[in-house]
Amino acid sequence: MLDRALPGDSPGDLVAWRVAPLIAWRGQGWSPHDRKWRMKILMVGDIVGKPGRKMLRRVLPELKRELELDFVVVNGENAAAGFGTTEGTANEMFDAGADVISGGNHTFDQRDFIPALDGEWPVLRPANYPEGTPGRGVVRIGKVAVINVQGRVFMPEGLDSPFVVANRLIEEMEDDPPAVILVDFHTEATSEQAALGWYLDGRVSAVVGTHTHVGTADTKVLPRGTAFVTDLGMTGPVNSVIGSRVEDVLARFLTAMPRRLNVAEDPGPAQFNAVMIDVDERSGLANSIERVDRFLDLRDA
Ligand SMILES: [Fe+2]
Ligand SMILES: [Fe+2]
Repeated sequence: MLDRALPGDSPGDLVAWRVAPLIAWRGQGWSPHDRKWRMKILMVGDIVGKPGRKMLRRVLPELKRELELDFVVVNGENAAAGFGTTEGTANEMFDAGADVISGGNHTFDQRDFIPALDGEWPVLRPANYPEGTPGRGVVRIGKVAVINVQGRVFMPEGLDSPFVVANRLIEEMEDDPPAVILVDFHTEATSEQAALGWYLDGRVSAVVGTHTHVGTADTKVLPRGTAFVTDLGMTGPVNSVIGSRVEDVLARFLTAMPRRLNVAEDPGPAQFNAVMIDVDERSGLANSIERVDRFLDLRDA
């Protein structure tokens, strides 16, 4: 992965920095937007239960054609009725077009699926669980590596530093670097999310957040070329409290008593939250990042 030069990195070079790519483009016949070197990647926010899986099936195959996507990462930590991933729900997500399924704090909720995390399937759990935890937090498929790490602010305790672990995983790839490195940072605090983005800027293609289920309007390419968004959002029911049935969540807040959370109405209005990242595979850095959000009423399906 090459680091993108910044104006001011070397003396004298604001003009050169801005003009050089244009000269190279005209002189050598390539454009920073040449499709040949571009990888178009979609990263999809947490799939919540059956409405989330239905929405993925309805939206993703068409998007893959429409946007000419080369690679798709889907966060599947809530795919099975809100709690973890099963073999069946993972298959549904792969059939819909996912290349990799990333995870989070709910990944281990489905005990029967835990052995599969050590198998051949590209299903991740966060990489910074203690050594010896089943599963893996990094996978490489062709030119693309995906790293999944989990935060430590307002999140379950006991995990290693996501900063240290992400750094180590990237260093371990340096002998044979992939063209593209995508990071799914599963965490609650916007500050922790942004900090990892800046920490990895210029070393990975993208750092995107998952877990809050609320998409943020801060897509940007950081100065050294890493695409960033604080949170992708979720793919699931619109009329819900971050995917769960409103009355279940309200009962918890109003009575402080335990109450099982169910995924909200199905069928009903559903949302699909994702970002598309356009990466120049020669540098591994991002040309652009933009939100890809869709809404459908699954009652019409
Ligand atoms: Fe989630
Ligand atoms: Fe989560």
